[in-house]
Amino acid sequence: MISGAGEGKGVGVADSYTIIDNRTGKSVEVPIENGGISSRALRELDPNIFIYDPAFLQTAACRSSITFLDGDNGILRYRGYPIQDLAEQSSYLEVAYLIVHGELPSRAEFEKWTHDITFHTYVHENVRKRFMDGFHHDAHPMGILVATVGALSTFYPEAKNIADPEVRMRQVVRLIAKMPTLAAFAHRFSIGLPFVFPDNSLDFASNFLSMMWKIAEPRFESDPVLARALDQLFILHADHEQNCSTTAMRVVGSAHADPFSSTAAACAALYGPLHGGANEAVVRMLTEIGSLENIEPFVAAVKEGKARLMGFGHRVYKSYDPRARIIKATAERVFEVTGRNPLLDIALKLEEIALADEYFISRRLYPNVDFYSGLIYQAMGFPVDMFPVLFAIPRTAGWVAHWLELLGDPEQKISRPRQIYVGPPERPYVPIRDRN
Ligand code: ACO
Repeated sequence: MISGAGEGKGVGVADSYTIIDNRTGKSVEVPIENGGISSRALRELDPNIFIYDPAFLQTAACRSSITFLDGDNGILRYRGYPIQDLAEQSSYLEVAYLIVHGELPSRAEFEKWTHDITFHTYVHENVRKRFMDGFHHDAHPMGILVATVGALSTFYPEAKNIADPEVRMRQVVRLIAKMPTLAAFAHRFSIGLPFVFPDNSLDFASNFLSMMWKIAEPRFESDPVLARALDQLFILHADHEQNCSTTAMRVVGSAHADPFSSTAAACAALYGPLHGGANEAVVRMLTEIGSLENIEPFVAAVKEGKARLMGFGHRVYKSYDPRARIIKATAERVFEVTGRNPLLDIALKLEEIALADEYFISRRLYPNVDFYSGLIYQAMGFPVDMFPVLFAIPRTAGWVAHWLELLGDPEQKISRPRQIYVGPPERPYVPIRDRN
């Protein structure tokens, strides 16, 4: 039995739970600290009773000071800075520095960081000539990314030395710097175009666009509005606390695997349609709806449980996802350059109808980050296969920041959850000749 002497996010002894083992009458008082109670108290009562929490709905597996997320009130902050301020005033590389180091950089720190990232964008020739060329001609770019980022560990064997802070930081820089290169190579390979090398005179987003789209021109000039929009999307996707891929990064990292292998695991998690693939599903859904008059019947089908409104709803946000609000404004700016994505009108009308409908209101279903991001990527010319790859590039900053935090946390050990065994009890082996 659990009774609460204090509720919510209180700190102090008065705020506590008393847990009573009704089998023995033994009890423990557990302080509520920073909105959580330690599971150690339960071990004191009985080390063989476990908390059953599939999908970690109610479990905090770490303390973290990277990202704050309040789903009820639609608040997202990196290291204390509101996402709106960062999206409007900062750049992805500055945000990556903030997420990794915990503070905004001074001018000198930012110059060094930008220089270091810029000069680690190249990958070993064997990655280009042997790995990339070895994939099937129509390989999915996300599959290529998962494989090649993991393979980078074989080029940097020093990365295994995770106890050395300088070595760790070198891999962090390499990972953030090389992801756009691997991502663009994966795209170029999948459509049979020659690879474009990084141009170190360009900023992070413009360089990625150059590696994506350059054909025969001596220098690719990206539209500044599009480069800024992409940079802003990178900021919005840089971290989102303990999501599926970040958890994968932490779990694999907790075994002291090198950071390239851990990032490959995180990428693999992001590849899943329930995580990094939702914006692709939104584009497919809007394409299927096809015209404004089909919206009402589609919404009716959703309410009858026959379809799902992709890009709506979130496990944590129970109000408007703050990132969706920013992306909606970005979409307008992008469409002024690219021309209006015809699916936008359907999206806007769909949002308007859903937000006024009792089904969505009562379930607190609002647009999430994916509702508009796919439309922007599509208008900028990215194929839908590239959507999860575009997510992985900036999320690398979040993954490596969590990896660093994990390694510096004395409370962390190798991740090893327990289970509730529900299989058969011990039984004798029956030789095959005696089985029915
Ligand atoms: N369309 C219609 N109904 C929905 C939707 C939706 N998109 N999302 C939730 N609901 C309904 C559920 O059917 C359920 O209704 P019920 O109470 O009548 O059974 C209720 O709302 C609660 O939903 P849950 O499934 O319990 O919510 P959960 O937190 O498990 O799911 C999720 C969150 C997976 C994001 C869900 O809202 C969803 O599938 N959305 C569409 C996919 C999507 O956009 N994913 C991107 C998330 S953001 C990201 O990962 C970057």
